Amino acid sequence: MSDEVTHDRVQELLLANDQLKQVNAELSVARDKLVQSEKLASIGQLAAGVAHEINNPIGYIFSNFGTLEKYLADLFSMLTAYEAAEPALAGTPAGAKLKALREAVELDFLKEDIPTLMSESKEGITRVRKIVQDLKDFSRVDSAQEWLRADLHHGIDSTLNIVNNEIKYKADVVKHYGEIPDIECLPSELNQVFMNLLVNAAHAITAERGTITIRTGLGSGTDVDKVWVEVADNGGGIAPENLSRIFDPFFTTKAVGKGTGLGLSLSYGIVKKHAGHIEVSSVVGQGTTFRITLPAVRAAVEA
Ligand SMILES: Nc1ncnc2c1ncn2[C@@H]1O[C@H](COP(=O)(O)OP(=O)(O)O)[C@@H](O)[C@H]1O
Ligand SMILES: [Mg+2]
Repeated sequence: MSDEVTHDRVQELLLANDQLKQVNAELSVARDKLVQSEKLASIGQLAAGVAHEINNPIGYIFSNFGTLEKYLADLFSMLTAYEAAEPALAGTPAGAKLKALREAVELDFLKEDIPTLMSESKEGITRVRKIVQDLKDFSRVDSAQEWLRADLHHGIDSTLNIVNNEIKYKADVVKHYGEIPDIECLPSELNQVFMNLLVNAAHAITAERGTITIRTGLGSGTDVDKVWVEVADNGGGIAPENLSRIFDPFFTTKAVGKGTGLGLSLSYGIVKKHAGHIEVSSVVGQGTTFRITLPAVRAAVEA
């Protein structure tokens, strides 16, 4: 073989190798996406079942708790009356028995401790209820959803009102709304996405006070028929090693009770249902931007 031929052959092989590498990279991305949606689907089913089972008992524990609190208040006032009557029995066997019993059960301590225990338990139950609600939202088995043409700015504004109290002490909200058409969507579900992004942004603020910037606009290039919404914060950012995990159900870096790790996986599912996509860019110490792109007209969701 001449040198010329060998050289051509090597070039060919190198090219083929590059192409293989490219295909391999694409496959790897596709596999990651599949794993992600597969994971979300199966966890969604599990969550739906668990939430459904827990919802009922939590409901009656919660309502019984309210009744119990009232009964306890009645009992305590009864006790107070008995205590007030105790001196009248001084010197009698009944009086001595009451006094001994009062000391044995440490009545004063009980009177202090029981209300504390009650309020702690109530807080715990409230938290569980919130988690169950998140799980139900996450699995979305119970909702009657309707596709409507809706004004996203209206949805964002009303969501801002709802979460205002999570945000107002931590950040100023700046809006740069572009000219966008109403889009065909499930408005209440998109509001949940906005809510999650806004609350996360507020949580991320590390300085005394930060800024949350909301931008909207019309897509360009291949995305002309799409609108986008960005929620950006100048908070602590996301560590690179966490970036690939933030959409995983139950992934949270927040303290117990503060985060469930369901917000972003829920949002991911909702955006997917709209045949849209969600992207994140983040710089540690500088902030994070989430960008959602949605078709203006309802589009088929890829299997
Ligand atoms: N704007 C943000 N800035 C920094 N980290 C974020 C932001 N949004 C999400 N994260 C990270 O992603 C994790 C998952 O978010 P999410 O699914 O909403 O669950 P949760 O808020 O309950 O922790 C958060 O715990 C946090 O580590
Ligand atoms: Mg969250």
